Amino acid sequence: MSYQYIISATRENVGLITLNRPEALNALSDDLMDELGQALNDFETDDAIGAVVITGSEKAFAAGADIKGMKDRTYMDVYLGNFIGRNWERVTECRKPVIAAVAGYALGGGCELAMMCDFILAADNAKFGQPEIKIGIIPGAGGTQRLTRFVGKSKAMEMCLTGRMMDAAEAERAGLVSRVLPAADLLEEAIKTAQSIASLSRPSVMMAKSAVNKAYETTLAEGVAAERVMFQSLFATEDQKEGMSAFAEKRAPRWTHK
Ligand code: CAA
Repeated sequence: MSYQYIISATRENVGLITLNRPEALNALSDDLMDELGQALNDFETDDAIGAVVITGSEKAFAAGADIKGMKDRTYMDVYLGNFIGRNWERVTECRKPVIAAVAGYALGGGCELAMMCDFILAADNAKFGQPEIKIGIIPGAGGTQRLTRFVGKSKAMEMCLTGRMMDAAEAERAGLVSRVLPAADLLEEAIKTAQSIASLSRPSVMMAKSAVNKAYETTLAEGVAAERVMFQSLFATEDQKEGMSAFAEKRAPRWTHK
């Protein structure tokens, strides 16, 4: 399917979504977010795809929600139209792993979109920030909540109150990103990482994602209990028998995703 504001492609078992509004530093308009949701729907239902990478350009992952597109909206426009709530949450609902490959600016909604993904690989030129305060609003796609969970109150508060940007090295130190890579290697490394995840047993990958996400939503005791249920349920899969047999027989496993 072809889109106007994103490019959707596959790289073997990986879905690759490239945000593509270069004239606006990939500002996340409603239409772009609708297209992103559609592309995620397609990858979610495609059995050949085991993981997704979302990326932007070398200059910008995304410089935020589209300021020009929202500047004239009224309270009732955004309330009744459920601005952000209507179509951004699709990213967090994806059951297959989604990696953000971030180069350049990831600001406002761009930083929030990256944080909605399962983990962030950053280029050494990446810059993260929540500058909404400078235009008379606050983050509206989870920034005050997810950034605080990632980097702690002090840094999140400073960033949301001042709009200061964090470079890639600081973002890695703070735990916002899992790894920093040379900008030239970012995309290939992200795709390689996604391909290695996509080549594993799908039920265990999906449950691992679900179990880690539980850590953000519930108490430790409830999270551990949920992990235990998923762990035990994986013994009902053919892939558990295959994976453990392959280890014992010193051969590569042949996953059936069952
Ligand atoms: N929305 C709409 N257009 C944007 C944009 C945005 N978020 N960010 C950049 N653009 C446009 C610029 O208006 C400019 O367009 P023109 O060429 O037509 O003037 C073009 O992209 C290039 O941008 P700049 O000339 O500003 O590029 P720069 O290199 O000088 O600066 C920047 C880069 C520091 C990222 C700067 O563009 C900037 O500050 N952008 C806005 C960042 C921001 O405030 N993001 C938060 C948005 S609100 C939000 O996201 C709410 C939410 O939580 C959901």
